[in-house]
Amino acid sequence: MRVMVIGSGGREFAIGRVLKQDPAVTKLYFAPGNGATTMLGENVSIKDYGELAQFALDNAIDLTIVGPEGPLSEGVVDVFKAKNLVIFGPSKAAAQLEGSKVYMKNFLAKNGIPTARYLETDHIGDAFKFIESLTPPVVVKADGLCAGKGVIIAMSHEEAKVAVSEMLSGKAFGDAGKRVVIEEFLDGYELSMFALCDGKDFILLPAAQDHKRLLDNDEGPNTGGMGAYAPTPLVDDVIYEKVKDRIVRPTLKGMQEEGAPFEGVLFIGLMIVNGEPITLEFNVRFGDPECEILMPLLKTPASELFYKAATKQLDTLNVEFHDKFAVGVVMASRDYPYSNSEPAEIVVDEIHHSEIAENAHIAYAGVSAEDGKLYATGGRVLVCVGVGESIKEARDRAYMLCGQVHYAGKKLRTDIAYQALR
Ligand code: AMP
Ligand code: GLY
Repeated sequence: MRVMVIGSGGREFAIGRVLKQDPAVTKLYFAPGNGATTMLGENVSIKDYGELAQFALDNAIDLTIVGPEGPLSEGVVDVFKAKNLVIFGPSKAAAQLEGSKVYMKNFLAKNGIPTARYLETDHIGDAFKFIESLTPPVVVKADGLCAGKGVIIAMSHEEAKVAVSEMLSGKAFGDAGKRVVIEEFLDGYELSMFALCDGKDFILLPAAQDHKRLLDNDEGPNTGGMGAYAPTPLVDDVIYEKVKDRIVRPTLKGMQEEGAPFEGVLFIGLMIVNGEPITLEFNVRFGDPECEILMPLLKTPASELFYKAATKQLDTLNVEFHDKFAVGVVMASRDYPYSNSEPAEIVVDEIHHSEIAENAHIAYAGVSAEDGKLYATGGRVLVCVGVGESIKEARDRAYMLCGQVHYAGKKLRTDIAYQALR
């Protein structure tokens, strides 16, 4: 099977890595890939989706997998399908579940899927009235994109009103804050769950926990994620069944009714409140770094899983996972998440210890290659992934590998998976 992965991050590296290990995969392309995906396959620099689809036809690519949200929202899946190519990911219409907070919230409400009680408005009087109806803390979100800073957890009605006033007046976030979503505060623990969907059937992957804040003890600014582990012991079979029944099945049914059957990865951002899973948000792609720790847990050949998901055959697949744990520690660049840093050469010590060599690996993300050397080029540079019989063993292996990786300005959290080890 000839496979192409669209994207350039650690998530796409991780998908490519398991495909590379799969004997059924004979050729692997990345579009555009990064400075390290050339270790796994060939990078393709075509940007236009029509031309990329033509490239897939010309090169007899059997399956394309889309990593990031951008190309999905821009309709890459529709372009490929119009040429009868097999591609795994949601259509442009289905990708709205992530692209628009308002669409998502309305979809959840319409289909009776549990989510925080909310009001979406641009009217200050309505906003104040709704704030008064909630018991603090109150969550205030700017509707548009604000580089991860648009969510305010206000500890009093007054504070919530100030936040809303500043957003609606444009003072806080400009136009992105001129519509707001006000939500009840959910007090629980946060998880990421991923359902691979083929429009009608799905496979729910082991639950993961991300670490969104930059610094230890969940302090500092929000990031794309500084580390993750799975499966988390914070979830039992009862919660998995509730997620399937109350969230995934109604979502698949609802999207069919919308005329936009959901194919691809449904990323469910969950808050577990007193044992009840409540939907915080949907994304239409794998999480990053969650993908980097879920892929190594997959026992079923990756090509089979993704091909069947892309061709509506998940009902014929009996998917298996290794009975192990994986922990991923993100190594970022010096100025992350504020700005890009100067390129810095990456040196990885030769790994002599067989325990690390066999049970830990690097998923490369923000890297470029020049003259046979790898450079950290900003953002999240790479993820050190450890696999083990316990979370502690997996974590220790991931951190041992982190110690072997060097570049100027390397930055990482030292407490990944702490909630599972308390
Ligand atoms: P969002 O951008 O909507 O994913 O929100 C960013 C973060 O804010 C989430 O990852 C949660 O940690 C927190 N958050 C968002 N909504 C709520 C809520 N209703 N209750 C508690 N925490 C929330
Ligand atoms: N790690 C969270 C995300 O990918 O959005």
